Amino acid sequence: MNDKQILITGATDGIGLAAAEALAALGANLAIVGRSKSRTQVASARIRAVAGRGATVDTFVSDLSSQASVRRLAAEVLARYPRLDVLVNNAGAMYAGRQLSTDGIELTWAVNHLAPFLLTTLLLDRLKESVPARIVTTASGAHRRAHIPFSDLNAERSYRSFGRYGETKLANILFTSELARRLKGSGVTANCFHPGLVATGFNRNNGLLMNLGMTILKPVARSPQKGAETLVWLATSPDVANVSGGYFFDQQQKTPSPEAEDTESAGRLWEISQRQCAVSERSAEARS
Ligand SMILES: NC(=O)c1ccc[n+]([C@@H]2O[C@H](COP(=O)([O-])OP(=O)(O)OC[C@H]3O[C@@H](n4cnc5c(N)ncnc54)[C@H](OP(=O)(O)O)[C@@H]3O)[C@@H](O)[C@H]2O)c1
Repeated sequence: MNDKQILITGATDGIGLAAAEALAALGANLAIVGRSKSRTQVASARIRAVAGRGATVDTFVSDLSSQASVRRLAAEVLARYPRLDVLVNNAGAMYAGRQLSTDGIELTWAVNHLAPFLLTTLLLDRLKESVPARIVTTASGAHRRAHIPFSDLNAERSYRSFGRYGETKLANILFTSELARRLKGSGVTANCFHPGLVATGFNRNNGLLMNLGMTILKPVARSPQKGAETLVWLATSPDVANVSGGYFFDQQQKTPSPEAEDTESAGRLWEISQRQCAVSERSAEARS
C-alpha cells in the first residue's frame, strides 16, 4: 500500500480508527476525517504510532451532518491530493430522537446517507483520474427489515431510531450499487459491507439506557479490529480489484435484502439525493 492515498471518515473511533491503524500499518498514506479537532488529533497520534515506514497521516475536521462542511472538506482534499486511491465512507450514527441538520434534513439521513453521497460525488473525478481506485462504504445488516420511505424521506410522519438507522444503511447499499453501475468500465470500484456487531462508540450518544444496552452487548460483540477486517480487505486486496457493486460480510459477497437489490429504487434514490444536495450547492455558489 506504499504511496496509496486513502481518505477515511469516522476515523476517530471504533471501526474507522481500527481500519485506519491497519491501513497505515500496511504503509498507506492516511487522511482521516473527524468532527472534533482534539479527537482527530488523538486518533492521528494513535495511527502514527503503528504506521509503516514512510506512511503519512493527515487530518481533516468536518461535521458531516452539514453539507457546507462536506463541501469544504472535499475542496480541501482536492487541493491537497493530486491523486486519491481509496475513499472510505465509514462515519455513521444513530439518534434516539428525531433531529434536523443545519440543512433541515433529518440527522441520521444527513450523516449516514447524504454525506457519503455528496463527498463521493464531489471527489469522483479525482478518483477517476487515480485509477485503479476504490470506494468502500460501511453499511449494516440493519438494512434487512428497512424500506426507503420515499413518501416520507425526512421521517416527519414516523421516526423510530433503529428503523430510521436501517433505512439509511439500506440507502448505503442502494447508493453503492447505483454508483457501481455509473462507474462501470471507469476503473473505480464501489463496494460496501456489514462489519458485524462491533463493540465501538456506536449508540453511546443516546442516553444512559442505550449506553447500558451497548455495555450488556459488549461480551458478544466483535472487536473494532475484527469489525474493520472486511473494510481493509475491500480497500486493499487484489481479490476484489475488479469486483464492484457488492455487499460483503466477513470477506464474502452476500445477498442483501430484496429492497437493496431494487435497481429502480437505487436510481430513484440517486436522483432524490442529488436534489437534496442541490440546495447547499446553490448556497455555496451564492457565497462565492
Ligand atoms: N458498531 C456496530 O455494531 C456496527 C454495525 C454495523 C454497522 N456499523 C457502522 O459502522 C460505522 C462506524 O461506526 P462505529 O460502530 O465504529 O461507531 P463509532 O465508534 O461511534 O464511530 C463512528 C464514527 O463516525 C463519526 N461521526 C459520527 N457523526 C459524525 C458527524 N456528524 N461528522 C463527522 N463524523 C461523525 C464519529 O466521530 P466522533 O468521534 O466525533 O463521534 C466516529 O469517528 C457506521 O457507519 C455504523 O453505521 C456499526
